[in-house]
Amino acid sequence: MVRLTFEHESEVEESNLDSSLLDISLKHGIPHMHVCGGHARCSTCRVLVCQGQENMLPRNAAEQALAEQKGLEDNIRLACQARVKGDVTVRRLVLDHQDVDLVMQEQQQTTGREQNVAILFSDIRGFTSFAERHLSYDIIHILNRYFQEMGEVVLANHGYIDKYMGDGLMALFGVDEQDSSINCMHAVTSALQMGEALERVNRYLKQNFDEQFEIGVGVHVGEVVLGNIGHRDRAHFTAIGDAVNIASRVEGETKMIDSSVLVSQCMHAHISNQVHFGQTLKTELKGKSGDYLLYEVLGLKGE
Ligand code: FES
Repeated sequence: MVRLTFEHESEVEESNLDSSLLDISLKHGIPHMHVCGGHARCSTCRVLVCQGQENMLPRNAAEQALAEQKGLEDNIRLACQARVKGDVTVRRLVLDHQDVDLVMQEQQQTTGREQNVAILFSDIRGFTSFAERHLSYDIIHILNRYFQEMGEVVLANHGYIDKYMGDGLMALFGVDEQDSSINCMHAVTSALQMGEALERVNRYLKQNFDEQFEIGVGVHVGEVVLGNIGHRDRAHFTAIGDAVNIASRVEGETKMIDSSVLVSQCMHAHISNQVHFGQTLKTELKGKSGDYLLYEVLGLKGE
């Protein structure tokens, strides 16, 4: 007979040590969450082992796999898989449906999902030669000031700042929103507002460094895979897929026609009623076959 204490809930005695912690808690009327039905797939049954870690049997293969995927510490156990050989005290960690929602969101991010998003790339033209003319301290300071301005624009338009690549920025629109037309408008509005934000950065640069930045912004919309990628301690929520590469290539083409904002044909289809366009560029994109039509964005209609 072992004594199991569910902290702040109840203390129970159990003689059948083949039972999982989840079986035991449910048998005793504890409302233990188990969204996947006890198949080591959701982790909503997770418990913290507060006392008696030495009385927990080692993780089985299924629990080990999920624990590694989620980076669970040794004292966090899946109640649906964990078994005991002596007295332990545990605390349930997922207590209500709000907790379940949080865990399921985390699960979605970890396992990846296909989604249609608008992808924005921006880049400072001629940044390498700019960096050669200035001290390291100034370069970092200026870049941070620049990214602060650009980042505010992205966030204000419901975007997700995916990453910084040197002087480049990648942002996603639609991580939490399914309507592609809304996402495309958020992305193109960001692209235009980045131009306005650049004027603020340039006033500062002119005054303090006698310099000016020019930027190019490319936007494309398409299917990507979203998820956390990387070492479990350094994983990063990001998008991968061909659409990301295309968005990057579109940004690269802004130099070709000396345009600030270019969008792909897919983007054009979503925003054509609401945007003023300038030049159209028919071009090949590096690494892609065939010609692509790209559209210069001048502004929003009605502004
Ligand atoms: S109930 Fe889903 S992992 Fe335990």
